[in-house]
Amino acid sequence: MVRGRPPQTRRTGANVTNSDNDWWRDAVVYQVYPRSFADADGDGTGDLRGVRDRLGYLGRLGVDAIWLSPFYTSPLHDGGYDVADYRDVDPRFGTLADFDALVADAHALGIRVIVDLVPNHTSCEHPWFREALRGIGRDRYIFRDSATGGPPNDWESIFGGPAWTQVEDGQWYLHLFDPTQPDLNWEHPEVRAEFRDILRFWLDRGVDGFRVDVAHGMVKAHGLPDVGPKEGRQAEMLGDETVPYFDQDGVHEIYREWRPILDSYPGGRMAVAEAWVSSPARLARYIGPDELHQAFNFDFLLAGFDAKSFREVIDKSLTEARIVGAPTTWVLSNHDVKRHVTRYGSLARARAATLLMLALPGSAYLYQGEELGLPEVLDLPDELREDPAFRRTGDSRDGCRVPLPWSGTAAGGFGFGPPGSAPPWLPQPESWAALTVEAQDRDPGSTLNLYRRALRIRREHPALGGGTLTWLASPEEVLALQRDPGLAVVVNTGEQAVALADLGLAGRVLLASEALDDEGVVPPDTTVWVQL
Ligand code: NOJ
Repeated sequence: MVRGRPPQTRRTGANVTNSDNDWWRDAVVYQVYPRSFADADGDGTGDLRGVRDRLGYLGRLGVDAIWLSPFYTSPLHDGGYDVADYRDVDPRFGTLADFDALVADAHALGIRVIVDLVPNHTSCEHPWFREALRGIGRDRYIFRDSATGGPPNDWESIFGGPAWTQVEDGQWYLHLFDPTQPDLNWEHPEVRAEFRDILRFWLDRGVDGFRVDVAHGMVKAHGLPDVGPKEGRQAEMLGDETVPYFDQDGVHEIYREWRPILDSYPGGRMAVAEAWVSSPARLARYIGPDELHQAFNFDFLLAGFDAKSFREVIDKSLTEARIVGAPTTWVLSNHDVKRHVTRYGSLARARAATLLMLALPGSAYLYQGEELGLPEVLDLPDELREDPAFRRTGDSRDGCRVPLPWSGTAAGGFGFGPPGSAPPWLPQPESWAALTVEAQDRDPGSTLNLYRRALRIRREHPALGGGTLTWLASPEEVLALQRDPGLAVVVNTGEQAVALADLGLAGRVLLASEALDDEGVVPPDTTVWVQL
């Protein structure tokens, strides 16, 4: 059942340098967190029909693709990153027919669809784990005995506490995340065969790619050795090579099995890795013609708002991209991190960083709501927080997952659902009234319209998307770069305004992240794109 393919790329003009199969190389991909995007059936939880109803909005925004966070059957203990059935849609999000209709409509608009694949662990409600608890097929997971009475080794869960939970008969199972997310045993041929089949299931339904969750974690070091003293564990979120449950060489075999499957479908099906590893060089090992197409470049997201950090990360990323022959990705926000408005401490900085990101060579990943300039919601009542990490560590990712404000007021749920809907699953702050899509739509200075303009220029300008980058001389707190042909980008992260003429730049400002009093002067916390 091969569904309709998207029309040819909508890019116009001289920057159509990629064949259709390479669409992902400079794509702008918009992450949809389905639970919080739009609620068509009024139950307070976003759904696939809600996404489908708003495709026009995404088309007008100008994105090339959407990435859907998990919408599969799930008890939602980790917002859907705990999958109970990899081949179905959770009833709260809709049906497979809704999914098919969403893909068909997206493709008709020229928007590609990437889905999330969660291969490191299943939900505890997955039929395999239910069987495992009854003593059947335990070797599909990582069950161990322990002689000590405590967990079989010293590994800690990313969400806090031991990475092991004991079952009734005394054995322990491994879960790098929540106890409701048992890790699969990727040495088991049935696990490997199952995921090859899951890939085909969604490829047959017409998806254009996969975002691979915890792509660095599926293979664990042989014998599950202890990590050792606490200091040794500090780097675990960065997948330090010494951590025996991250970034093991064996994981690459899996991707070498998957790549021919992706390549056997027409139209450029791709996969992007969510891999937390210790260096761009390690990250580069996930990418290539026989493995995955891309990996998220989290170094950019982790950089502070200062010219030096940005420049270092950009240089490192571009060097690695050259080595592997695949363009890098850029990302500032997603469903796991504090929104970049709040991280950087101001909307102006967030807008400036966005214009930097969208001018860099490679593809960019946007997270729903960043186009509205949404801040992190920091004051959610504890009892409403759902992130499983919150109970174990006190840290919670709920604040970036608050449902989007579309229109009206908080009392009406900001149009998240139809009139009379149940309240959104997380409360939206009253202060978002000025940030709704409706409020921003006609305001030429709004963040929404800044994103729309930036994406339109990016699509039309021959210098943007792919290509190379040359640094121009600039004061320490200013980034100045050239994209050929004919575009300069200036980012002022300092406290003093900077005159374009002082940078030797003469040209017309195509786009500025803030209104400029004087076209030739870039104020602090501002980025401009200059047509040379
Ligand atoms: C990464 C996902 O982005 C995150 O939301 C999830 O909690 C973990 N992987 C576990 O699946």
